[in-house]
Amino acid sequence: MPDLALLGGPRAITEPATDLFRWSDVTPDHEAAVLDVLHRGAMSGTDVTRQFEREYAAWQGQAHAVAFNTGTAAIQVAMWAVGLRAGDEVIAQSITYWASILPALSLGAVPVLVDVDPDTLCIDPGKIEARIGPRTRAIVVTHNMGYPTDMDRVMAIARRHGLAVIEDVSHAHGGLYKGRKLGTIGDVAAFSCMSGKSFPIGEGGILTTDSREIFDRAIAFAHYERYDDTIEEPDLAPYRGLPLGGVKYRMHQMSSALGRVQLRTYDDRVAGIQAAMNEFWDLLEGVPGLRPHRVDPSTGSTMGGWYNPKGLYVAEELGGLSVTRFCQAVRAEGVDCRPGLPYKPLHLHPLLHTADVYGHGKPTRLAFADRDVRERRGDLPVAEEVGNRTYGVPWFRRFDRDVIARYAAAFRKVVANHGALLADDPGNPPGLADWRAEPMV
Ligand SMILES: Cc1ncc(COP(=O)(O)O)c(C=O)c1O
Repeated sequence: MPDLALLGGPRAITEPATDLFRWSDVTPDHEAAVLDVLHRGAMSGTDVTRQFEREYAAWQGQAHAVAFNTGTAAIQVAMWAVGLRAGDEVIAQSITYWASILPALSLGAVPVLVDVDPDTLCIDPGKIEARIGPRTRAIVVTHNMGYPTDMDRVMAIARRHGLAVIEDVSHAHGGLYKGRKLGTIGDVAAFSCMSGKSFPIGEGGILTTDSREIFDRAIAFAHYERYDDTIEEPDLAPYRGLPLGGVKYRMHQMSSALGRVQLRTYDDRVAGIQAAMNEFWDLLEGVPGLRPHRVDPSTGSTMGGWYNPKGLYVAEELGGLSVTRFCQAVRAEGVDCRPGLPYKPLHLHPLLHTADVYGHGKPTRLAFADRDVRERRGDLPVAEEVGNRTYGVPWFRRFDRDVIARYAAAFRKVVANHGALLADDPGNPPGLADWRAEPMV
């Protein structure tokens, strides 16, 4: 076994496979679509956006799609559209991008955070019911890093308690749960389409739903200029011409134009990603210390475009080697491998404890609450330590058996030689899984 590159041996990867990681290609079709918008001076209109919405809804298999300028806006509007109002509680997982839940604050609603499952990194359905109270109105689930949430259990809880379910599908466009498209199982779905997502169109967000009522409200909140020709709800009619949310969230048409082009090839691209990522993990099957963050394909579920893929790390199987030191050694082999997750536990951030954003004279999170829902350190143990046992893996956008084998071999090489890394292991920095070293609450 050759020495580790970190300790002076040869690198496993000498030529980075930049082609395999590029996403997405800028084709003449993309250029033509954007230039058409520019030359027509149609950047601020809605003609291309409405076409994109129709096509996205058809692709998603749902009755309605509404485009927004960001995914964050789509989530805020989804929350309002399912009836979340001042003082209502909304449940979400602590490990997710902040936009899955923080828009609730601007509605006067009360975020309540729940632990994640250590294997799926999605909300742990077994932890939801203990946090439901008389004012709970909705649950937001994030299909984290493409992993489909256990929707059967979430929906059973939601129906039992009369709660709305919002699916945050920002990491999982095109993913399946037991054969059903992610985003079609809850009441409404929101997707971020910013650059870097598996469905990137610059900046943008999309809301989809089968509910006419939710669709109407989504238009009314933030698309005032489309009131007349779309809205059927009699309750909304008196407010024609002004946005109920006092916001303007329409999508830039260069983004909508890009979206239309992306849709045409997206399913093929996702198939390529899935083949490549599953090949990578198949090659690491049974390697001590390394577990895939992937769903069993025999269940009919998939990871969509595998946004920002991760591996789960079991230090005990590698003599206690920290994931930080492990990743350092993998990086030295020529693979961009970072320890931890992009998200830290939201429930430990001061914004959800002390910040008085709107001058209510108390923490914004509790401005309209009738109980103190704030979680304390130790309350969500998985969320608080999961960053210490996760690492990034290459996000292959295309299938190439030889290259993928070389990358998998780099991981195997470090595992096979892990004993040589133990002596100088500095351990994980306290900030890897948390906002900072010191206790915050
Ligand atoms: C899970 C999740 N939800 C929501 C968003 C917000 O989307 P946007 O950045 O388009 O506002 C993101 C974006 O990174 C995300 O990762």
